Amino acid sequence: MSKIILTGDRPTGRLHLGHFVGSLRRRVELQNSGGFEKIYIMIADAQALTDNADNPEKIRQNIIEVALDYLSVGIDPEKSVIFIQSQIPQLTELTFYYMNLVTVSRLQRNPTVKSEILLRNFETSIPVGFFTYPISQASDITAFKATTVPAGEDQEPMIEQAREIVRKFNSVYGDTLVEPSILLPDNKACLRLPGTDGKAKMSKSLGNCIYLADTPEDVKKKVMSMYTDPDHIRVEDPGKIEGNTVFTYLDAFCTDEDFAEFLPDYSCLDELKEHYKKGGLGDVKVKKFLLNVINKQLEPIRVRRKEYEQNIPLVYDILKKGTQEAYQVAQQTLDEVKAAMKINYFDDQELIKGQSEKYKEK
Ligand code: TRP
Repeated sequence: MSKIILTGDRPTGRLHLGHFVGSLRRRVELQNSGGFEKIYIMIADAQALTDNADNPEKIRQNIIEVALDYLSVGIDPEKSVIFIQSQIPQLTELTFYYMNLVTVSRLQRNPTVKSEILLRNFETSIPVGFFTYPISQASDITAFKATTVPAGEDQEPMIEQAREIVRKFNSVYGDTLVEPSILLPDNKACLRLPGTDGKAKMSKSLGNCIYLADTPEDVKKKVMSMYTDPDHIRVEDPGKIEGNTVFTYLDAFCTDEDFAEFLPDYSCLDELKEHYKKGGLGDVKVKKFLLNVINKQLEPIRVRRKEYEQNIPLVYDILKKGTQEAYQVAQQTLDEVKAAMKINYFDDQELIKGQSEKYKEK
């Protein structure tokens, strides 16, 4: 079976390093690997509106930000289809039919929905659209017959729910949809990159992000004030690695070549960690190294972003072309879904003939 990727992001802000190590970097590798028949990358504006209904301008502004981030990390519109979710009405239509296959209690058990309800203080005032977004996400994935969804760990319950919907649909209406699997980062530090404050997740609402579009000065400020080991007070003190955000970031980003280039006293991260644990290695030295490592990754991204920023109409054109292509593919799947569900009345000559026969006999 051919392998197809679908993945996406909500346009609620610029993309940050958590997105980068959790999924973006992987997407570019997969795109360039040639191992996939098609790659769809979706700007999930309709999903973003499920909890931003009163702020459409924010979503509108961030569509271009996310598109610029995609293009600047190396997503190539010649190889990947970038599109905007809300412009594909077939996705909404699929969602409406899938809703019949999912129970309220199953949605309430979805761990991501559960934790987001807590995070946003929704309690019982949760919008129905937000509550049901896992179903809409199943539509996003299945409309493109995606086999593979590269995403961060937080998306695991969404993919599981999509798989259940596929199985249910296929068992009720016959084999139509494809069961997707999630492709998680293989490096543990990349599964869920903590914020610069050491909090569990890098998140815009917590204000603890390093953005892909940050200037070197922004990144410097953020890295130099990063959370480390609060008990590591003097340079001589032994330091802890676990829960030390600077080391988690190094786990996610640095390579042995980075040591040769920026910190040749050490050959690899394990050596640096050993010294830190023993004592005698100050936070500032480690932070300066991390700063170099991050800036080395971000520099080419900044350069490409600048180029695209000078040509915004081109970016909209890329989005429009991608959206037109995605529209056709989603329509094809919707036709198959409606045929399977027997709601294709006007396309079904057999139906019309059968009904005619039925009445002729009388
Ligand atoms: N829920 C994803 C996020 O918050 C965005 C998204 C929407 C998505 N539909 C998707 C991701 C389909 C993967 C596949 O970032």
